[in-house]
Amino acid sequence: MSAALAPETLRMPRHVAIIMDGNRRWARARLLPRVLGHHAGMRAVRKVVAAAHDIGIAYLTLYSFSSENWRRDPHEVSDIMGLLRRFIREDLAEMHAKNVRLRFIGGRDRVSPDILAMLDDARATTEGNTGLNLTIAFNYGGQDEIVDAVRAIAREAKAGTLEPEAIGRETISQFLHTAGVPDPDLIVRTSGEQRLSNFLIWQSAYAEFVFTDTLWPEFDRKALIGAIEEFNRRERRYGAGDGA
Ligand code: IPE
Ligand code: IPE
Ligand code: MG
Repeated sequence: MSAALAPETLRMPRHVAIIMDGNRRWARARLLPRVLGHHAGMRAVRKVVAAAHDIGIAYLTLYSFSSENWRRDPHEVSDIMGLLRRFIREDLAEMHAKNVRLRFIGGRDRVSPDILAMLDDARATTEGNTGLNLTIAFNYGGQDEIVDAVRAIAREAKAGTLEPEAIGRETISQFLHTAGVPDPDLIVRTSGEQRLSNFLIWQSAYAEFVFTDTLWPEFDRKALIGAIEEFNRRERRYGAGDGA
């Protein structure tokens, strides 16, 4: 490990995406009910959003609930839905005041109408903001997102408004839920797991990955800066070799 660098001296990734994992293990280690792990996870979200804003990250994406997470115990799912409602209710005004622009990516299926209305409202309220771009991946699955894009592209091709030969990588990017958001430069996953779990599978083609053993509820500004320091030690080549 090299010495810690001050945030001003770091090259900032434009877009940091985080797989926030380990809430239940954090709770279990403290003999707490798992819902308290998710509560602690929400506190970490607040801290990390504030830190990203302070250190000048332009885009932050947080994986909060995957399309596979519906498989969990219905009580746990309902607790997580409650926390999302709370997050929007309690934090939207402050985020708006801090010029944060909120986006949500993921499916609308299975999500209750009151939550959909809250997400739509949060998006519309902050649409004109020019500060931190915060994307919450909720009921999100990268494969489903690509299926949606393929369907939309096929509809246009069938209608004659899009030539198959004109379809390129850019076309696909534009049809994804993340249209308008640059691809992530850095993907962080907490809790020691080293997999994508269906997160941003198209967009992560050239991302750097940082895996940390820290459980999400313990992830904070210092840990975020630590991940960015690790990113600074990486050399991104995009297939061009090293000049040798
Ligand atoms: C991440 O923590 C939060 C969600 C996936 C909703 P987990 O709930 O996956 O906690 P672990 O990984 O089981 O410890
Ligand atoms: C991935 O975490 C989804 C989120 C962090 C929201 P999981 O804990 O659900 O992923 P797996 O099951 O370990 O792959
Ligand atoms: Mg997990």
